[in-house]
Amino acid sequence: MKNVLTQIEQLTRSSIQALETSLSLEMLEAVRIEFLGRKGKIANLMPLLADLSLEDKRVVGPLMNELKAKVEELFEAKKQSFADVLLAKKEESFKDFDVTAYTKRPLEGSLHPYTHVHTIITDFFRSIGFQVADGPEAETEFYNFEALNIPANHPARDMQDTFWLNIPSMVMRTHTSNVQIHSMQKYNPPIALISIGRVYRNEATDASHDCMFQQFEGMFIDKNVSLANVIATMKLFLQTFLDDKNLKLRVRPGFFPFVEPGIEIDASCPFCTDGCSTCKHSRWIEMVGAGLIHPNVLKAGGINPEEFSGFAFGFGLTRLVMLKYGISDIRLLHSSSVEFLKQF
Ligand code: DAH
Repeated sequence: MKNVLTQIEQLTRSSIQALETSLSLEMLEAVRIEFLGRKGKIANLMPLLADLSLEDKRVVGPLMNELKAKVEELFEAKKQSFADVLLAKKEESFKDFDVTAYTKRPLEGSLHPYTHVHTIITDFFRSIGFQVADGPEAETEFYNFEALNIPANHPARDMQDTFWLNIPSMVMRTHTSNVQIHSMQKYNPPIALISIGRVYRNEATDASHDCMFQQFEGMFIDKNVSLANVIATMKLFLQTFLDDKNLKLRVRPGFFPFVEPGIEIDASCPFCTDGCSTCKHSRWIEMVGAGLIHPNVLKAGGINPEEFSGFAFGFGLTRLVMLKYGISDIRLLHSSSVEFLKQF
Protein backbone atom coordinates (compact mmCIF):
# COMPACT_ATOMS: atom_id res chain seq x y z
CA MET A 1 0.00 0.00 0.00
CA LYS A 2 2.77 2.42 0.93
CA ASN A 3 4.51 1.64 -2.34
CA VAL A 4 1.37 2.52 -4.34
CA LEU A 5 0.89 5.78 -2.46
CA THR A 6 4.51 6.78 -3.15
CA GLN A 7 4.03 6.02 -6.82
CA ILE A 8 0.86 8.15 -6.95
CA GLU A 9 2.67 10.97 -5.24
CA GLN A 10 5.65 10.74 -7.64
CA LEU A 11 3.38 10.58 -10.70
CA THR A 12 1.47 13.64 -9.47
CA ARG A 13 4.67 15.61 -9.20
CA SER A 14 6.24 14.43 -12.44
CA SER A 15 3.05 14.87 -14.50
CA ILE A 16 2.45 18.40 -13.20
CA GLN A 17 6.05 19.31 -13.92
CA ALA A 18 5.90 17.82 -17.42
CA LEU A 19 2.69 19.69 -18.21
CA GLU A 20 3.98 22.97 -16.92
CA THR A 21 7.25 22.78 -18.84
CA SER A 22 5.56 21.90 -22.20
CA LEU A 23 6.40 24.66 -24.64
CA SER A 24 4.30 23.65 -27.59
CA LEU A 25 1.16 21.77 -28.55
CA GLU A 26 3.33 18.90 -29.81
CA MET A 27 5.18 18.63 -26.48
CA LEU A 28 1.86 18.81 -24.65
CA GLU A 29 0.44 16.01 -26.73
CA ALA A 30 3.50 13.85 -26.01
CA VAL A 31 2.95 14.45 -22.27
CA ARG A 32 -0.73 13.51 -22.59
CA ILE A 33 0.20 10.23 -24.24
CA GLU A 34 2.90 9.55 -21.62
CA PHE A 35 0.55 10.02 -18.64
CA LEU A 36 -3.05 9.79 -19.85
CA GLY A 37 -2.68 7.41 -22.81
CA ARG A 38 -4.26 3.96 -22.82
CA LYS A 39 -0.86 2.49 -22.02
CA GLY A 40 0.29 5.58 -20.14
CA LYS A 41 1.79 5.85 -16.70
CA ILE A 42 -1.55 6.46 -14.93
CA ALA A 43 -3.25 3.52 -16.65
CA ASN A 44 -0.26 1.39 -15.66
CA LEU A 45 -1.00 2.06 -11.96
CA MET A 46 -4.48 0.48 -12.16
CA PRO A 47 -3.37 -3.20 -12.01
CA LEU A 48 -1.65 -2.46 -8.66
CA LEU A 49 -5.15 -2.05 -7.11
CA ALA A 50 -5.81 -5.75 -7.60
CA ASP A 51 -3.25 -6.74 -4.95
CA LEU A 52 -4.66 -4.41 -2.28
CA SER A 53 -7.13 -5.23 0.46
CA LEU A 54 -10.70 -3.96 0.13
CA GLU A 55 -10.05 -1.33 2.76
CA ASP A 56 -6.89 -0.09 1.02
CA LYS A 57 -8.69 -0.10 -2.33
CA ARG A 58 -11.24 2.31 -0.86
CA VAL A 59 -8.40 4.76 -0.07
CA VAL A 60 -6.18 4.25 -3.08
CA GLY A 61 -8.96 4.03 -5.73
CA PRO A 62 -10.23 7.61 -5.25
CA LEU A 63 -6.64 8.87 -5.07
CA MET A 64 -5.92 7.36 -8.46
CA ASN A 65 -9.11 8.89 -9.93
CA GLU A 66 -8.19 12.22 -8.42
CA LEU A 67 -4.74 12.05 -10.01
CA LYS A 68 -6.22 11.25 -13.41
CA ALA A 69 -8.80 14.05 -13.15
CA LYS A 70 -6.19 16.53 -12.03
CA VAL A 71 -3.82 15.71 -14.90
CA GLU A 72 -6.70 15.89 -17.37
CA GLU A 73 -7.80 19.24 -16.01
CA LEU A 74 -4.28 20.66 -16.15
CA PHE A 75 -3.81 19.31 -19.66
CA GLU A 76 -7.00 21.00 -20.93
CA ALA A 77 -6.08 24.29 -19.26
CA LYS A 78 -2.63 24.24 -20.78
CA LYS A 79 -4.05 23.37 -24.21
CA GLN A 80 -6.47 26.27 -23.94
CA SER A 81 -3.66 28.64 -23.04
CA PHE A 82 -1.77 27.65 -26.21
CA ALA A 83 -4.93 28.20 -28.28
CA ASP A 84 -5.37 31.63 -26.68
CA VAL A 85 -1.83 32.64 -27.57
CA LEU A 86 -2.31 31.47 -31.18
CA LEU A 87 -5.55 33.39 -31.50
CA ALA A 88 -4.02 36.52 -30.06
CA LYS A 89 -1.15 36.26 -32.55
CA LYS A 90 -3.56 35.84 -35.46
CA GLU A 91 -5.64 38.78 -34.37
CA GLU A 92 -2.52 40.87 -34.06
CA SER A 93 -1.47 40.04 -37.62
CA PHE A 94 -4.92 40.92 -39.01
CA LYS A 95 -5.12 44.12 -37.00
CA ASP A 96 -4.19 46.31 -39.97
CA PHE A 97 -5.99 44.26 -42.64
CA ASP A 98 -8.19 46.58 -44.65
CA VAL A 99 -11.15 44.65 -46.06
CA THR A 100 -12.19 47.61 -48.20
CA ALA A 101 -8.82 47.52 -49.99
CA TYR A 102 -9.50 44.02 -51.31
CA THR A 103 -10.94 44.08 -54.82
CA LYS A 104 -11.40 41.26 -57.28
CA ARG A 105 -8.89 41.30 -60.14
CA PRO A 106 -10.63 42.00 -63.45
CA LEU A 107 -10.38 39.38 -66.18
CA GLU A 108 -7.37 40.19 -68.37
CA GLY A 109 -7.65 39.97 -72.13
CA SER A 110 -4.86 39.42 -74.65
CA LEU A 111 -4.15 40.59 -78.17
CA HIS A 112 -5.20 38.42 -81.10
CA PRO A 113 -2.21 36.99 -83.03
CA TYR A 114 -3.37 39.01 -86.06
CA THR A 115 -3.19 42.21 -84.00
CA HIS A 116 0.34 41.37 -82.80
CA VAL A 117 1.49 40.81 -86.36
CA HIS A 118 -0.25 43.92 -87.72
CA THR A 119 1.71 45.94 -85.19
CA ILE A 120 5.05 44.32 -86.05
CA ILE A 121 4.48 44.84 -89.79
CA THR A 122 3.27 48.43 -89.60
CA ASP A 123 6.08 49.35 -87.17
CA PHE A 124 8.65 47.94 -89.57
CA PHE A 125 7.31 49.60 -92.72
CA ARG A 126 6.70 52.94 -91.04
CA SER A 127 10.33 52.86 -89.89
CA ILE A 128 11.48 52.69 -93.53
CA GLY A 129 9.14 55.46 -94.68
CA PHE A 130 6.02 53.59 -95.82
CA GLN A 131 2.53 54.73 -94.91
CA VAL A 132 -0.40 52.46 -94.10
CA ALA A 133 -3.39 52.62 -96.45
CA ASP A 134 -6.79 50.99 -96.42
CA GLY A 135 -9.28 49.90 -99.08
CA PRO A 136 -12.80 48.50 -99.43
CA GLU A 137 -13.55 44.80 -98.96
CA ALA A 138 -16.65 44.93 -101.18
CA GLU A 139 -15.08 46.02 -104.44
CA THR A 140 -15.91 46.72 -108.07
CA GLU A 141 -14.71 44.45 -110.84
CA PHE A 142 -12.61 47.35 -112.07
CA TYR A 143 -10.43 47.71 -108.95
CA ASN A 144 -10.21 44.01 -108.16
CA PHE A 145 -9.55 42.75 -111.72
CA GLU A 146 -9.58 45.10 -114.70
CA ALA A 147 -7.27 47.81 -113.44
CA LEU A 148 -4.89 45.08 -112.26
CA ASN A 149 -4.55 43.77 -115.80
CA ILE A 150 -6.61 40.67 -115.08
CA PRO A 151 -8.51 40.01 -118.32
CA ALA A 152 -12.19 39.06 -118.43
CA ASN A 153 -11.46 35.43 -119.27
CA HIS A 154 -8.93 34.96 -116.44
CA PRO A 155 -9.74 31.92 -114.26
CA ALA A 156 -9.57 34.06 -111.06
CA ARG A 157 -12.79 35.69 -112.18
CA ASP A 158 -14.58 32.36 -112.10
CA MET A 159 -17.55 31.84 -109.77
CA GLN A 160 -15.55 28.99 -108.21
CA ASP A 161 -12.88 31.38 -106.94
CA THR A 162 -14.65 34.66 -106.37
CA PHE A 163 -17.65 35.68 -104.30
CA TRP A 164 -19.77 37.75 -106.64
CA LEU A 165 -22.25 40.03 -104.91
CA ASN A 166 -25.88 40.43 -106.02
CA ILE A 167 -24.99 43.99 -106.97
CA PRO A 168 -23.80 44.01 -110.63
CA SER A 169 -20.01 44.06 -111.12
CA MET A 170 -19.32 43.89 -107.38
CA VAL A 171 -17.18 41.23 -105.69
CA MET A 172 -15.73 40.57 -102.28
CA ARG A 173 -12.11 41.47 -102.99
CA THR A 174 -10.00 38.40 -103.71
CA HIS A 175 -6.75 40.15 -102.78
CA THR A 176 -5.48 43.38 -101.22
CA SER A 177 -4.04 44.45 -104.58
CA ASN A 178 -7.14 46.63 -105.14
CA VAL A 179 -5.57 49.13 -102.71
CA GLN A 180 -2.78 49.73 -105.27
CA ILE A 181 -5.19 51.36 -107.73
CA HIS A 182 -7.09 53.39 -105.11
CA SER A 183 -3.78 54.71 -103.76
CA MET A 184 -2.36 55.57 -107.19
CA GLN A 185 -5.50 57.62 -107.83
CA LYS A 186 -5.21 59.35 -104.50
CA TYR A 187 -1.49 60.18 -104.24
CA ASN A 188 1.23 61.43 -106.54
CA PRO A 189 4.57 59.59 -106.73
CA PRO A 190 6.72 58.95 -104.89
CA ILE A 191 4.29 56.60 -103.16
CA ALA A 192 5.37 54.07 -100.52
CA LEU A 193 2.61 52.24 -98.72
CA ILE A 194 1.38 48.96 -97.33
CA SER A 195 -2.15 47.77 -96.74
CA ILE A 196 -3.32 44.92 -94.51
CA GLY A 197 -6.75 43.38 -94.61
CA ARG A 198 -9.27 40.62 -95.19
CA VAL A 199 -9.72 38.96 -98.56
CA TYR A 200 -12.32 36.42 -99.70
CA ARG A 201 -12.12 33.30 -101.84
CA ASN A 202 -14.86 30.86 -102.68
CA GLU A 203 -12.95 27.82 -101.36
CA ALA A 204 -13.73 24.78 -99.25
CA THR A 205 -12.36 25.08 -95.71
CA ASP A 206 -9.60 22.78 -94.47
CA ALA A 207 -6.57 23.08 -92.16
CA SER A 208 -4.86 25.58 -94.48
CA HIS A 209 -7.77 27.18 -96.39
CA ASP A 210 -10.64 29.37 -95.32
CA CYS A 211 -13.10 31.42 -97.36
CA MET A 212 -11.74 34.51 -95.58
CA PHE A 213 -8.11 35.15 -94.74
CA GLN A 214 -5.73 38.10 -94.58
CA GLN A 215 -3.15 39.48 -96.95
CA PHE A 216 -0.81 42.35 -96.90
CA GLU A 217 0.24 44.31 -99.90
CA GLY A 218 3.03 46.77 -100.46
CA MET A 219 3.83 49.21 -103.22
CA PHE A 220 6.58 51.68 -104.01
CA ILE A 221 6.41 54.02 -106.99
CA ASP A 222 9.15 56.46 -107.92
CA LYS A 223 11.62 57.08 -110.72
CA ASN A 224 13.96 54.18 -111.61
CA VAL A 225 12.58 51.59 -109.23
CA SER A 226 14.14 48.19 -109.86
CA LEU A 227 13.65 44.55 -108.87
CA ALA A 228 16.71 44.87 -106.62
CA ASN A 229 14.71 47.36 -104.51
CA VAL A 230 11.87 44.92 -103.83
CA ILE A 231 14.24 42.04 -103.12
CA ALA A 232 16.24 44.14 -100.63
CA THR A 233 13.04 45.38 -98.95
CA MET A 234 11.69 41.84 -98.63
CA LYS A 235 14.98 40.59 -97.24
CA LEU A 236 15.14 43.24 -94.53
CA PHE A 237 11.48 42.77 -93.66
CA LEU A 238 11.63 38.98 -93.42
CA GLN A 239 14.86 39.03 -91.42
CA THR A 240 13.18 41.36 -88.93
CA PHE A 241 9.79 39.65 -88.88
CA LEU A 242 11.15 36.13 -88.47
CA ASP A 243 13.91 37.38 -86.18
CA ASP A 244 16.66 35.69 -88.18
CA LYS A 245 19.56 37.88 -89.31
CA ASN A 246 20.98 35.06 -91.42
CA LEU A 247 17.76 34.52 -93.36
CA LYS A 248 18.46 34.10 -97.08
CA LEU A 249 16.17 34.67 -100.04
CA ARG A 250 15.67 32.63 -103.18
CA VAL A 251 14.06 34.37 -106.13
CA ARG A 252 12.13 32.50 -108.83
CA PRO A 253 10.19 33.80 -111.82
CA GLY A 254 6.43 33.90 -111.14
CA PHE A 255 3.43 35.08 -113.08
CA PHE A 256 0.96 37.66 -111.81
CA PRO A 257 -0.94 39.72 -114.39
CA PHE A 258 -0.27 43.00 -112.51
CA VAL A 259 3.55 42.79 -112.53
CA GLU A 260 6.17 42.44 -115.23
CA PRO A 261 8.56 40.87 -114.52
CA GLY A 262 6.91 38.87 -111.77
CA ILE A 263 8.81 36.92 -109.14
CA GLU A 264 8.18 34.62 -106.22
CA ILE A 265 10.43 34.87 -103.22
CA ASP A 266 11.25 31.99 -100.88
CA ALA A 267 13.04 32.39 -97.56
CA SER A 268 15.50 29.93 -96.06
CA CYS A 269 13.62 28.01 -93.36
CA PRO A 270 14.11 29.89 -90.07
CA PHE A 271 13.26 26.74 -88.08
CA CYS A 272 15.87 24.26 -89.30
CA THR A 273 19.12 23.80 -91.19
CA ASP A 274 18.50 20.38 -92.68
CA GLY A 275 14.76 20.11 -93.36
CA CYS A 276 11.69 20.03 -91.11
CA SER A 277 7.93 19.62 -91.44
CA THR A 278 7.36 23.40 -91.74
CA CYS A 279 9.53 23.67 -94.88
CA LYS A 280 8.37 20.21 -96.04
CA HIS A 281 12.03 19.11 -95.90
CA SER A 282 13.01 21.50 -98.70
CA ARG A 283 14.77 24.10 -96.45
CA TRP A 284 12.87 26.85 -98.31
CA ILE A 285 9.50 28.42 -97.54
CA GLU A 286 7.42 30.20 -100.16
CA MET A 287 6.86 33.70 -98.88
CA VAL A 288 5.68 36.36 -101.22
CA GLY A 289 4.70 37.25 -104.77
CA ALA A 290 6.21 40.44 -106.15
CA GLY A 291 7.44 42.26 -109.21
CA LEU A 292 7.63 45.52 -111.08
CA ILE A 293 4.21 47.07 -111.54
CA HIS A 294 2.89 46.40 -115.05
CA PRO A 295 2.66 49.58 -117.21
CA ASN A 296 -1.07 48.86 -117.76
CA VAL A 297 -1.63 48.97 -114.00
CA LEU A 298 0.21 52.27 -113.61
CA LYS A 299 -1.90 53.67 -116.45
CA ALA A 300 -5.13 52.44 -114.84
CA GLY A 301 -4.06 54.26 -111.69
CA GLY A 302 -3.39 57.46 -113.64
CA ILE A 303 0.42 57.29 -113.47
CA ASN A 304 2.63 57.71 -116.51
CA PRO A 305 4.69 54.50 -116.97
CA GLU A 306 7.20 56.40 -119.13
CA GLU A 307 8.09 58.58 -116.18
CA PHE A 308 7.61 56.31 -113.18
CA SER A 309 8.14 52.71 -112.27
CA GLY A 310 7.30 50.81 -109.14
CA PHE A 311 7.42 47.54 -107.29
CA ALA A 312 4.59 45.69 -105.61
CA PHE A 313 4.44 42.68 -103.36
CA GLY A 314 1.68 40.61 -101.75
CA PHE A 315 1.90 38.33 -98.71
CA GLY A 316 -0.51 35.75 -97.40
CA LEU A 317 -0.66 37.34 -93.96
CA THR A 318 -2.60 34.42 -92.49
CA ARG A 319 0.22 32.09 -93.50
CA LEU A 320 2.79 34.46 -91.96
CA VAL A 321 0.88 34.50 -88.66
CA MET A 322 0.60 30.70 -88.63
CA LEU A 323 4.29 30.40 -89.42
CA LYS A 324 5.38 32.87 -86.74
CA TYR A 325 3.33 31.28 -83.97
CA GLY A 326 3.46 27.66 -85.13
CA ILE A 327 -0.32 27.42 -85.61
CA SER A 328 -1.10 24.34 -87.67
CA ASP A 329 -4.81 24.85 -88.38
CA ILE A 330 -6.32 28.03 -89.85
CA ARG A 331 -9.69 27.12 -88.26
CA LEU A 332 -8.15 27.56 -84.80
CA LEU A 333 -6.86 31.01 -85.72
CA HIS A 334 -10.31 32.04 -86.90
CA SER A 335 -12.28 30.28 -84.16
CA SER A 336 -12.44 33.06 -81.54
CA SER A 337 -11.85 30.32 -78.97
CA VAL A 338 -10.83 32.01 -75.72
CA GLU A 339 -8.89 28.90 -74.67
CA PHE A 340 -6.78 29.23 -77.83
CA LEU A 341 -6.41 33.03 -77.73
CA LYS A 342 -5.33 33.09 -74.07
CA GLN A 343 -1.92 31.80 -75.17
CA PHE A 344 -1.02 35.02 -76.95
N1 DAH B 1 -2.45 39.40 -105.32
C1 DAH B 1 -1.64 38.23 -105.28
C2 DAH B 1 -2.41 37.07 -104.69
O1 DAH B 1 -3.48 37.28 -104.21
C3 DAH B 1 -0.40 38.47 -104.44
C4 DAH B 1 0.54 39.42 -105.11
C5 DAH B 1 1.51 38.94 -105.97
C6 DAH B 1 0.44 40.78 -104.90
C7 DAH B 1 2.40 39.78 -106.59
C8 DAH B 1 1.32 41.66 -105.53
C9 DAH B 1 2.30 41.13 -106.36
O2 DAH B 1 1.28 42.95 -105.36
O3 DAH B 1 3.17 41.99 -106.98
O4 DAH B 1 -1.94 35.96 -104.72
